[in-house]
Amino acid sequence: MKMAVVGTGYLGATHAACMARLGHEVMGVDIDEAKLSKLRSGEMPFYEPGLEELTREMVASGRLQFTSSYEEAAEFADVHFLAVGTPQKRGEFAADVSALESVIKLLAPLINRPAVILGKSTVPVGTAQEMRALARSLSPVGDDLELGWNPEFLREGHAIKDTLEPDRLVVGVADDGAGRAEAVAREVYADLLANGVPFLLTDLATAELAKTAANAFLATKISFINAIAEVCEAAGADVVQLADALGYDSRIGRAFLNAGLGFGGGCLPKDIRAFMARAGEMGAAQALTFLREVDSINMRRRTQMVEMVKQSCGELLGAHVAVLGAAFKPDSDDVRDSPALNVAGQLQLQGATVNVYDPKAMDNSRALFPTLGYSTSALEACDNADVVVVLTEWKEFRNLDPVELAGIVRQRKMIDGRNCLDPARWIGAGWQYRGFGRASSRTAN
Ligand code: UDX
Repeated sequence: MKMAVVGTGYLGATHAACMARLGHEVMGVDIDEAKLSKLRSGEMPFYEPGLEELTREMVASGRLQFTSSYEEAAEFADVHFLAVGTPQKRGEFAADVSALESVIKLLAPLINRPAVILGKSTVPVGTAQEMRALARSLSPVGDDLELGWNPEFLREGHAIKDTLEPDRLVVGVADDGAGRAEAVAREVYADLLANGVPFLLTDLATAELAKTAANAFLATKISFINAIAEVCEAAGADVVQLADALGYDSRIGRAFLNAGLGFGGGCLPKDIRAFMARAGEMGAAQALTFLREVDSINMRRRTQMVEMVKQSCGELLGAHVAVLGAAFKPDSDDVRDSPALNVAGQLQLQGATVNVYDPKAMDNSRALFPTLGYSTSALEACDNADVVVVLTEWKEFRNLDPVELAGIVRQRKMIDGRNCLDPARWIGAGWQYRGFGRASSRTAN
């Protein structure tokens, strides 16, 4: 099939390369020429395992190309995926869908033969219906332009696998256009469907909500275990063992029960806020008041982390703190709303000398927080440190050798902000170890 993917950010660049991998002819569309020329030469504007190789291969195969011309895209494609960003509005909880609207306004008037638009961006419920009406009113083919919503559930760090082997495909269609949008979606994803991926056909609103509700549930799961971690600390219990015990219950599951510094990134925080804002607009605010608590439990983790470091050093003024991790999660260079960088910034503002190291997110971190100290390796960051804090659970940090590190630091104090280290190993090597909600925190003190 011939398709356009509008927006070549995280979502769009991945989707475009993966659709080409499925054998389709794909045109990635973006207004950012610098980004396009990088992509054309097979260079990724962000880090995602395997994506650079896949993009190069697909560009070389001739099945993947990039353009900044909507005319070219409208001429080329019969299916148009929308993958532009829907960030949080400045000073508000609501999502900003203006990029989506402007794509429709530019693209729809150029679509002059029957075509299908499939939205992938995460949007407030009701947006798809509005975009459908707008697109049809602007296109010369009118109602022969169909729009469906096909939300994307991919995780950074696992983007290719999540696109090519998703847990499910959700396609929302309008009552009077179901046939065409469904048929096109089934053709696009024929290989996935043949592999048994569940296909859920819904109305537009249900498809939009499926994504928002999934992210709200994941955020709630993380904040639930973090709230329980606070209780564990008070009771002298161990939240990691407790999460294991809960996880064996198949109704609960172990995933997303890792207590620690909490969630960040470009999705979960802004999506739960946009969800609350939209519910309020629809008169259903009360239904989602619990998400406010989910958000505040999460944000509290960051101040608690700063408190833990402060307690560990006595005072922050003049203390040397090694911060290991800056990305919002491992296997990513994304520092959007990163809990790690937030903590590093707070520590420095309170007088500590902070040395940050992250395997992939150094450039993005420097751009966002140019005043922090940056090191070129974990060992360099830990040189003469009064306390070492692990804020992103990169494999490299999980594998650190407590004996080797002991010879470098000023004081053997480890704060494990992601509960990713083995306390016994660190305590055994003479370190004072603290995790979030872990019994071993007490024995170490
Ligand atoms: C999320 C959703 O998982 C994905 O389905 C959606 O499409 C986009 O948003 P992503 O933002 O890539 O994906 O990251 P995710 O793996 O969900 O992690 C989000 C945050 O939660 C990270 O900061 C991570 O460190 C944190 N987290 C995750 C925890 O604190 N504990 C956990 O147990 C799991």
